[in-house]
Amino acid sequence: NDELKAELLEIALDAAHRAGAFLRDGRPEDLGVAATKSSAVDVVTEMDIASEKLITGLLAEARPDDGVLGEEGADIKGSSGVQWVIDPIDGTVNYLYGLPSWAVSIAARKDGETLVGVVHAPMRAETYRAVLGGGAFVGDRPARVRPAPDLGLALVGTGFGYLADRRTRQAEVVGRLIAQVRDIRRGGSAAIDLCDVATGRLDAYYERGLNPWDYAAGDLIAREAGALTGGRPGEPLSPELTVAAPPGLFETLQSRLDELGAWHD
Ligand code: IPD
Repeated sequence: NDELKAELLEIALDAAHRAGAFLRDGRPEDLGVAATKSSAVDVVTEMDIASEKLITGLLAEARPDDGVLGEEGADIKGSSGVQWVIDPIDGTVNYLYGLPSWAVSIAARKDGETLVGVVHAPMRAETYRAVLGGGAFVGDRPARVRPAPDLGLALVGTGFGYLADRRTRQAEVVGRLIAQVRDIRRGGSAAIDLCDVATGRLDAYYERGLNPWDYAAGDLIAREAGALTGGRPGEPLSPELTVAAPPGLFETLQSRLDELGAWHD
């Protein structure tokens, strides 16, 4: 099993670095200026699709029998029991505008358990990685959550989905929560937000309505760095609700979010 994890980690790191270099070097410089034009959005969509193709090609070459689930539509069943979950660009809107917080996110799961997670953020020049039971790292340094503060002193990251009704509801919840915490951040990449919890750049993170490819790798990285992750109190993290924070803060934030109805539209 350790051998399998090491193999999956190596493949994930290689694929994430290659896709990251492709996205960084291939991004037209005037994209930010043209961000309001649909042509610019189309370029980003094309880069997203090409990045997913590049990653799925590398995975298929290395391990042809694995399954793959990707944001841009990859859905391969596979026969090995290993499933890759990939987000070819997490933080697409940041990428479009030339903001640095975007990442390639790659996770490998077996029997419903995430074994390996890699989040590579080229413009931060940082790679976050974790292996189940093996700790989390940013580059070669161990990643560790910040000691839990009281909720009132917590810097909390969150995000908003793309559905208008949901965003209105998410804004209501943030509107209530913001008076009860130190401050709120909206970084624009769920994968990086989870890694920021793992490295202590955020105390906590939550969001309603994520997809598995947004959180699969970041979830393992946050947990291996000492965070707890979950959904509503007593429930695992899911597209319904994703919460990550160190023990102590986690439970308080989770129940506060439950009171605020953060899990429903
Ligand atoms: C989005 C980002 C964002 C989050 C959205 C996600 P994408 O992913 O992670 O931070 O708030 O919910 O959809 O579309 O850039 O891959």
